[in-house]
Amino acid sequence: MRAAILFVVILVSLAGLPSRVRAAAEPDVELELTAAPDEVAVFKGKKTPVWRYTGKVVKGRKESLIPGDSYLGPTMHLIRGERVRIHFVNNLPEASIIHWHGLIVPHAADGLPSMAIKPKERKTYDFTVVNPAGTYPYHPHPHMRTATQVYRGLAGVIIIHDPAEDKIGLPNGKQDLCVVIQDRRVDADNKFVYSEAMMDMVSGMRGDTILVNGRPDASFPIERRPHRVRLFNASNSRIYKLAWSDGSPMHVIGTDGGLLAGDEGPQKRPFVVLGPFERVELWEDFSTRKPGADLSLISEKFAMNAGMGGRGRGPGMGMMMNMGGEKLRIARMEIQEGEAKPGVLPKLPGTKPKLAEAKREVTTTLAFRMMRGFLNGREYKDDDLLDAEKLKLNEPVIWAFDNGSEMGMQLPHPMHIHGVQFRVIERKGNGAGELAKGVIDDGWKDTVLVFPGETVKVHLRPTERGLFIYHCHILEHEDMGMMRHFSVADK
Ligand code: C2O
Ligand code: CU
Ligand code: CU
Repeated sequence: MRAAILFVVILVSLAGLPSRVRAAAEPDVELELTAAPDEVAVFKGKKTPVWRYTGKVVKGRKESLIPGDSYLGPTMHLIRGERVRIHFVNNLPEASIIHWHGLIVPHAADGLPSMAIKPKERKTYDFTVVNPAGTYPYHPHPHMRTATQVYRGLAGVIIIHDPAEDKIGLPNGKQDLCVVIQDRRVDADNKFVYSEAMMDMVSGMRGDTILVNGRPDASFPIERRPHRVRLFNASNSRIYKLAWSDGSPMHVIGTDGGLLAGDEGPQKRPFVVLGPFERVELWEDFSTRKPGADLSLISEKFAMNAGMGGRGRGPGMGMMMNMGGEKLRIARMEIQEGEAKPGVLPKLPGTKPKLAEAKREVTTTLAFRMMRGFLNGREYKDDDLLDAEKLKLNEPVIWAFDNGSEMGMQLPHPMHIHGVQFRVIERKGNGAGELAKGVIDDGWKDTVLVFPGETVKVHLRPTERGLFIYHCHILEHEDMGMMRHFSVADK
């Protein structure tokens, strides 16, 4: 009886609170994520020492957290509109902080490098899920330690669901695959090897062993019917040119921030280019493949030369390096016995949003030289707010990333902005070369590859006030300073 009265009192008092306060007061889902060293059987033989996230549901839907079977963190399944509270426990031997990549959350819940907590400390995040249904990463973000922490295994996936999306009739359940792609260097003792050699830092750390969902030689049993395939590049620096080994086209239905609109997708592409922490979703009908067919998701070989250049010098002066990729098998698709159940390519709802006219344009020049990364000529510091790009709440703005006018190494930079989803409105310079046919500039994006010599313009409208950051998502570049604050203030 007393409990019932108390409950009514709480309900009545919650109704009068503004939504932000209410979110903090009464979450629908409450989770705990702990980062800690561990050992996992990734390969045959010796276990691999890793750092990993484990988690538990404190309150709410039990299916909101599904543990992985390797070193990757549990997959979070959140529903649009849900109020979420997450407690982060740092049991690492160094400072860390979790960031929800692509999620539009209040400044206090974003997990900025300046918010990193010490070993044994806890931090609580409160936010409401406002993003569309889609595939989003979470990962650590302490300054100068992000690259090594992710490399040791700290990363995971957030899948946002939306009852409105369920109506489209996309494949679900066992026909909804999430493919998290990473590369590692592995030694004879099955340890992940992180190199700090100059070349590895300039290109970003790459490895020759491909892991999918934390597993080598990955394979998926595939029924002969349509599947939704979520591709997520969780590698420190490698760019992939993803294709089907039998040469059939890919059918793109979504990007970083959810599904494409009906007038921009599905899109047929010969291959799909994915930079670090970008995502693409496919709809693929496997009913036409024969049981036992030899089919794999591969990354095709491609060339991309990087070298010293800029300000008209062109590449070729001084150090030259290969930023391209070799042919790699990502995962086998094991077509199962059984009746073929063909499907029809889904119609995606809605039309491309009309972008409000932006009265302001900000420009960021990208540069990497002498093992340091620069945005507008400055390197990141937790407390450097000087000249931070100043945006206005709800005011549309065009942000240009200029990767052609500074001196330095000519490198591709996947540029990521916190706190927003943006639209790519212009790409100039054709630095993608042979990759161009697979670069998806449609849909909502939070990370965009800016190839050498290019200027890419994006359109955005920030809806959260306060301090955020933007940075190159090659984690080594980010750690070497290629990151900056920006602020969002009331008009
Ligand atoms: Cu994927 Cu600043 O983050
Ligand atoms: Cu982010
Ligand atoms: Cu970069």
